Parts: sequence; structure tokens; C-alpha cells
Amino acid sequence: MRKQIAAANWKMNLTYQNGEKLLDDILDANIKLSSHQLAIFAVPYPYLIMTRSEVEDEKNYYAAAQNCHHKRSGAYTGEVSADMLHSIGINYCVVGHSERREYNGETNAMLADKVNLCYENNIIPVFCCGEPLAIREEGTQNSYVAAQLRESLFHLPAEKIKEIIIAYEPIWAIGTGKTATTEQAQEIHHFLRTVIADQYSESVADDIPILYGGSVKANNAKELFSCPDVDGGLVGGASLVAEDFIEIIKALK
Ligand code: PGA
Repeated sequence: MRKQIAAANWKMNLTYQNGEKLLDDILDANIKLSSHQLAIFAVPYPYLIMTRSEVEDEKNYYAAAQNCHHKRSGAYTGEVSADMLHSIGINYCVVGHSERREYNGETNAMLADKVNLCYENNIIPVFCCGEPLAIREEGTQNSYVAAQLRESLFHLPAEKIKEIIIAYEPIWAIGTGKTATTEQAQEIHHFLRTVIADQYSESVADDIPILYGGSVKANNAKELFSCPDVDGGLVGGASLVAEDFIEIIKALK
């Protein structure tokens, strides 16, 4: 079975102490993950080492960075490279979240560079795609997200892209409480899988987990994750509340 993943995205929330308490509370629930299930915590940079050591003894729990820089190293004050993440034992990194695309001007071409640097450093990218409201209203979301994949990922050889995690996050559903319906989620996830199959092969497309993000909550996770092409979620707001994220992990197929 393809990997099923509950990924928390804390964004710029929580103090170190509150983050540590949140992780303790979630781990105290003692949810044993099967070999195909993963729980990933994308935390602020200063909490990465703490998070990594909190989850170290738990099977299939991982720490992730929320971003890395698109250059290898150099005079980029305040930035963090994929190589630095690797050097502290981080194996996952969110790439191309819509908030970074919007507020930090990240382009598909820059994201292709980030993805390459992740792979060079044995870091699995959690690559985000998704359309703004205007595109959804126009009905052109499929070609919009297909272009995001094509321009940032399709230079990768099959053996590399097979390792990736994709998160489809419609921007109009992020932090708005407005979730895509299960039909909308299934439809576009299935579409993304066919785009990957056309470029690579069915077997590559079948292996790649595609997470849904955008107002995933404890009370809608099970329904969303029940869609055949939805392989878990990338969760913002609800990942900040232990009981909610526990339910979301439990909702994995
Ligand atoms: P949300 O955020 O769950 O708060 O909508 C999701 C995300 O931005 O990854």
C-alpha cells in the first residue's frame, strides 16, 4: 500500500515550550503506526532538533522543516540550506507552500532548485501545489496545478520523483474553514496522478502519496482520507491542538 501521511504544519505558531508540550501530548496518545503510515511534524527551524529527538524512538514519526533555501550556500543572511537540515538529521522538508509562494515570491523555477537540493541532501520534499480562488472559479484548476508539477518536478528522473510527497492545497481552503468536498479532492488528486502517469508511468504515479491540505479537521479527516487518491493530509490549524491532531493521525487509512 502507498504511504498514508498525517503531516502537521505548525507555521509560525507556538513557543518552544508549547511546541514541546504539544508533541509530548500527541506522543502520549501512543498511536502505533503501521509500516505504511507516517506522522510528520513540520516545525519552525529552532524546534527541529527538539522535535527530531522527541520522535526519534517512535516508529514512523518524523520532524520536517517548513522550507529551505533554493541556493546551496553563501551570502544569504537569515536563510537555511538543505545541507544544514541534513547535518542535523532532518529527512523531510515542505517545499512551495502557498504562503511562501505568495509572501516570499517563490516561483516554480525556484522550487525546482529547492527540490533538487533536497534530493542532494537525502531530504524528501513535501511539495505543495494548489490553485487560488479565482482559478477555481474560472474552472482552470487542473491546468494550473499540472503546470506547477511540470515546472518544478518533471525534470526529475523516475527513481527520484517516486520518493516525493505531494500536498494538494487549494489556497481558498487554507485557514478559511472552507474545505474542498471529498468529490473535489478526489477529482483533482486523481487528475494529478494521471498527469504523473502520463509523464512517467502508472507505477510511479501509484507510488506517490498525494496529501490534501486546507482546513483538514478532526471531524472531516476520515471522510477526506477515505477517498482512494487522498493519502492523508497536510494540516495547519488543527495540528496545533493535540486532541485534534491525534484524531487526524487515527483517521489515516
Ligand atoms: P489549515 O492549513 O489546515 O490551517 O487550513 C493547511 C496548510 O496551510 O498547510
